[in-house]
Amino acid sequence: MSEPRLTRLPQWQALQRHADAIGHKHLRELFAADPQRGERYVLEDVGLYFDYAKQRVDADALRLLRELALACGLPQRVEAMFRGERINTTEQRAVLHVALRAPAGEAILVDGHDVVTDVHAVLERMGAFAERVRSGAWLGHGGQRIRHVVSIGIGGSDLGPVMAYEALRAYSRREMTFHFVSNVDGTDIAEAVHGLDAAETLFIVCSKTFTTLETLANARAARAWCVAALGDEAAVAKHFVAVSTNAAEVAKFGIDTANMFGFWDWVGGRYSMDSAIGLSTMLAIGAEHFRAMLAGFHAMDEHFRHAPLERNLPVLMGLLGIWNNNFLGAASVAVLPYEQYLKRFPAYLQQLTMESNGKRVTRDGAAVDYATGPIYWGEPGTNGQHSFYQLLHQGTRLVPCDFIGFGQSLNPLGDQHDLLLANLIAQGEALAFGKTAEEVRAAGTDAALAPHRTFPGNRPSSTLLAKKLTPHTLGTLIALYEHSVFVQGVIWDIDSFDQWGVELGKQLAKTTIAELTAKNMPTLAHDSSTNALIHRYRQLRDR
Ligand code: F6P
Repeated sequence: MSEPRLTRLPQWQALQRHADAIGHKHLRELFAADPQRGERYVLEDVGLYFDYAKQRVDADALRLLRELALACGLPQRVEAMFRGERINTTEQRAVLHVALRAPAGEAILVDGHDVVTDVHAVLERMGAFAERVRSGAWLGHGGQRIRHVVSIGIGGSDLGPVMAYEALRAYSRREMTFHFVSNVDGTDIAEAVHGLDAAETLFIVCSKTFTTLETLANARAARAWCVAALGDEAAVAKHFVAVSTNAAEVAKFGIDTANMFGFWDWVGGRYSMDSAIGLSTMLAIGAEHFRAMLAGFHAMDEHFRHAPLERNLPVLMGLLGIWNNNFLGAASVAVLPYEQYLKRFPAYLQQLTMESNGKRVTRDGAAVDYATGPIYWGEPGTNGQHSFYQLLHQGTRLVPCDFIGFGQSLNPLGDQHDLLLANLIAQGEALAFGKTAEEVRAAGTDAALAPHRTFPGNRPSSTLLAKKLTPHTLGTLIALYEHSVFVQGVIWDIDSFDQWGVELGKQLAKTTIAELTAKNMPTLAHDSSTNALIHRYRQLRDR
C-alpha cells in the first residue's frame, strides 16, 4: 500500500511555512496593510458575490493554494468528472450529477451511451406527471384530486427534497401541502399523515436502491394507512409513485413501474436532488421553476469547468477551506444563512460535505496523515446569534463561518430585511475585528469586567450575497458547494463519492433487530455494554 503523498508535496510544505509565517497575523493587520482589501478579495460571477476579505489569507497563500491544486491534478480531475470517467473508484462508477442539469443536445457519454438524452426523457415524464397532478387531471382512487404529497426517503433521497421545498416555498403551489418522512421512528410517518385525507394524498417513495430499511418500513406503513383508509389494495396504483434506480425492487414492493421515475448509478444519493428524486420539488414549484433551478446548477457547472483557478468560485471556496482546515487547524465550518427559507440548508450540506469528505484513507487506501472533511453545522441567522454565536466570538475554538444573504426579501415587511442583513454584516465584522481590551476599557468598562467583554476577533468568515432567492439562485448555490467539496476531495486524494462508513452500523443493526424481536431473550455475544443495553431495552419495553 502506498504512502499518502500530499504532505510531502513541495507545495504543501511551502503552505506550511507560509502558515507559520502569517497564520497568526490578525485580520486587523491584513486590512490595515491593504486599504482596498474589501474590494480586492471579492469574486463575483454567476449571480453570486463572494467576499473572502475576512479570511486569514494573503495573496501568497492564495497563490500557493492554487499551486497545490495544480500539483494535485485538479484541472485533470475536473475534466475526468465531466467526461464521465469512473472517478468513484471504490464503486467503479462515473460521477455525473453535472449531466442532470446539462441542456438538451449536449452529449455526455457513459460506456458510449449519451446519458443527457436519458436525463431529458425522465424530465419530460416528470413534467407531464407534475402537470397532471397540479392541474387536477391525476385523480386518486376515489376520483378526488391530489392535495397532499408525502415524500418518503432518507439521506440523499430526503435532505435535498426537504431543503429545496423549504427554500422554494414562496414559489410553491400553496393549495397543496407537502410532507417529508425519513426517520424509521414511527412518529415521523404518523405525524406526517395526521389529519390528511388518504383520498387526496400522493406518496412518493424515493430510494436509489429501494432496499433502505427506513424508507421501506415507512413506505409499508404508508401503504397500510392508505389501503386501510380507502378500503382497497387497488388504491396503491393511484396513490403511490416511486423514484429509484431499481425497477425490480419497486415492482416487488407493489408499485407499478409505469409509475416509477428512474435515475442512474452515476448519480450519488447526496447529489441527486436535481434528478427524479426532486419530483416533490417539481410538484411543489412546477416544471418551469424546476428547469430554472437546473439552469442555475448548470451555470455554476460551466463556471467551475471553464473559469481560471484564480477566478473560480468553487475552487476558491474549496481552497479557503483547505487553508482553514489544514493550516489554521479549524475543525468545523458554520453555515449561517440569513434567509429563513434556507433553514434546512445546513442540514442538507451536512450530508453533502461530511458523507463526501469524511474519509480517512486516500484513493489508494493509505491512511491519511492530515485532516480531511471538517464538521459542517449551522442555523439560520439571526436565531443562531442568540444561541451558539457566543462560542464563535469568545470561545476557544476557531470556527470559520459562511454567511449567506440576499439583497431582496421574498417577504418584504417594513424594515425587517434591512435589520436581518445588518445583523449578517455586523457579525462578520465583529468576528473579524473584535474589540480589544483597550477599547473596552476606553469605553469605561470596569477593569474586572474588561476580559469578559473583550473580543479577540481574527475569526475568519466568507460572505455570499445574491440578489434574491430564486430557483436559479438555489441551483447555483448548491452547485457551488458540490464542486467545492469535490475540490477538497481532490486535494485530500480521497474518494468523495462513496460512503462505506455508513455500512457497519447498518450491519450490526440487523443482528440487533433479531435480538430485540426474538420471543425469548437470546444468548448475546456483544461487549458487556451492548449486551446490557439490549437487556435493559427489552425490560423497559416489556414491563
Ligand atoms: O446513508 C447512506 C445512504 O446510502 C446515502 O448515501 C443515501 O443518500 C441514503 O443512504 C439513502 O439511500 P437510498 O436512496 O438508496 O434509499
